[in-house]
Amino acid sequence: MRLFVGIEFPTRILEGLALCQEAVRAKAAKGRFKRRENFHLTLKFLGEVATDRLPELQKVLGAIREPRFSLHLGHLGQFGGGNPVRVVWVDVAGDMAQMIRLQQRVEAGLGPIGFAAESRPWRPHITLAQDVVFAGEKPDWNKVAVPQDLFVAEEFALILSEEVERRREYTPIQRIPLA
Ligand code: 2AM
Repeated sequence: MRLFVGIEFPTRILEGLALCQEAVRAKAAKGRFKRRENFHLTLKFLGEVATDRLPELQKVLGAIREPRFSLHLGHLGQFGGGNPVRVVWVDVAGDMAQMIRLQQRVEAGLGPIGFAAESRPWRPHITLAQDVVFAGEKPDWNKVAVPQDLFVAEEFALILSEEVERRREYTPIQRIPLA
């Protein structure tokens, strides 16, 4: 099963992300645009994991005790400088120190049970679209208005990623509360 650890968002934030996505879509000739219900922030990508490893994984994640923290959406940006652009994303701002602590805690817990830490630094982002081709000029990301509603992360989750009827579906299989 393909798994990752991430943070899900309430409807209001998903709506804000959808607005940002519309600004990208308006300028794009084509691209793979994520469905609104699939927007999330990845703390740790695990990849293919054997089902029999689930209990151990859930035990480690369930033992994490970290405080909740507040966030809001930040700016748009991109990974990859070509055309198509590999990923168009929104980042987050707010209590970044606590969010980074949580991410490090997840890495530190999973390392000893065989999930190696990424060699690249963690770049927290919410993917809006992938492989985006811009017909004319690419938008100036700093000029896209991003809704600034605050959101308190009260939990994080172990999320199953699967293809169902040719659509990507993300299903939380464990939710871990933040204190
Ligand atoms: P992305 O949003 O930049 O695509 C589920 O695939 C989540 O894990 C996505 O949010 C994805 O990031 C993230 N992820 C991190 N590393 C990945 C990898 N090597 N392959 C696929 N997804 C990865």
